[in-house]
Amino acid sequence: MADGNITKDVMYEAVSPDDFESMLNLDRYGSRSTAFDRIISATHDHFWDPLDKKYIDFDEPFDMENQAIMPEELVPALQTKYVSEALSDPKERIRFINQQALRSFSSILHGEQGALNLSASLCHVLYDQGAQEYAANQTREEARHVTAFAKYIKARWGRPAKCSPVLQTLLVEIIGSPEVYKKIVGMQMLVEGLAMGAFATFFQKMHDPLGRKLMQLVMTDEAFHHKFGKIWADRTVPHLTPEEHAVIEDWAAHCFQTLLFNLVAPHEQRDLYEEFGLDPDRVVAEFAEIATDDARREDMKEATNIFRVLIKTLLNAGIISDRTRAFYGMYVDMEELKGEGDTMVGDAIAEDGIAYLKTINFRDHGAGLKIAAE
Ligand SMILES: [Fe+2]
Ligand SMILES: [Fe+2]
Repeated sequence: MADGNITKDVMYEAVSPDDFESMLNLDRYGSRSTAFDRIISATHDHFWDPLDKKYIDFDEPFDMENQAIMPEELVPALQTKYVSEALSDPKERIRFINQQALRSFSSILHGEQGALNLSASLCHVLYDQGAQEYAANQTREEARHVTAFAKYIKARWGRPAKCSPVLQTLLVEIIGSPEVYKKIVGMQMLVEGLAMGAFATFFQKMHDPLGRKLMQLVMTDEAFHHKFGKIWADRTVPHLTPEEHAVIEDWAAHCFQTLLFNLVAPHEQRDLYEEFGLDPDRVVAEFAEIATDDARREDMKEATNIFRVLIKTLLNAGIISDRTRAFYGMYVDMEELKGEGDTMVGDAIAEDGIAYLKTINFRDHGAGLKIAAE
């Protein structure tokens, strides 16, 4: 049954995606793991609805023409002398920042769609009822993220930008893969970790209050998704054979490298530079000059740096061994990272968000349960 899944705990046992018959096994109904019950129950505490103005109002205005939606420091191309000097007109500069932000939020939207389909795909392969209910619950939460980011992009820009080929390839690979470890390492540990880091940065730095609110609401859910990956690692990594460990470690390094070098790469944005009358070759060349490994390492010192978060996640999960330690060591001081413990960036923001949601969700407690008719 386990084939290439590298299953070390019965609750992660999996069947092939088209094997529904196994789900009808009578013994299966009687044994349900309880490891995820608290995460599943917590969904009621941090419930929110992107269609209900009580939680978030996508009609809140923002002057996109005269105000940058995020600070310049979040736009790597503007750190080059060429782009910074070429875009000296204040309005044009704001338009450039806001178009760059559209790319970022579109990537997040496509990532959320990926998370929705990925967790739905876990429902088809996970054999344990508890793990399956967890995946179904995550699917439901990812669905509201897709709704929320689609509404935000519609309100501010009208229409999302296309998914980058690199992100698309990674999402297609993990959604279609039958192996549970590929799905969990790729999505719950890396893409979700990346998302937590990105949301924390946007929450702290965005100029648009609606955007900041959206980040916090989404983080109240994402913090739990990341925990699912951590529980998997805790129950799997210590029991791996050296060969299995190498397979998982290599897969994690592959995903990390894909995300690091390509997701925000300037060559994916050539059409954007052209739209602003810039020479894409020159932007790419100047960007390469400033994006040296030293510069990346310096950037990663900031706690919310998204890639630092990923390395910390892999390190704490025991996935990084001496085989790949030097590879990650190019970007961060591994000893320093280890000394920081396992507090996840964004957890504090998510906790504040959950406390806020509880005041909304339980304000009318006792008023009687209403069941929507449609
Ligand atoms: Fe999500
Ligand atoms: Fe998620």
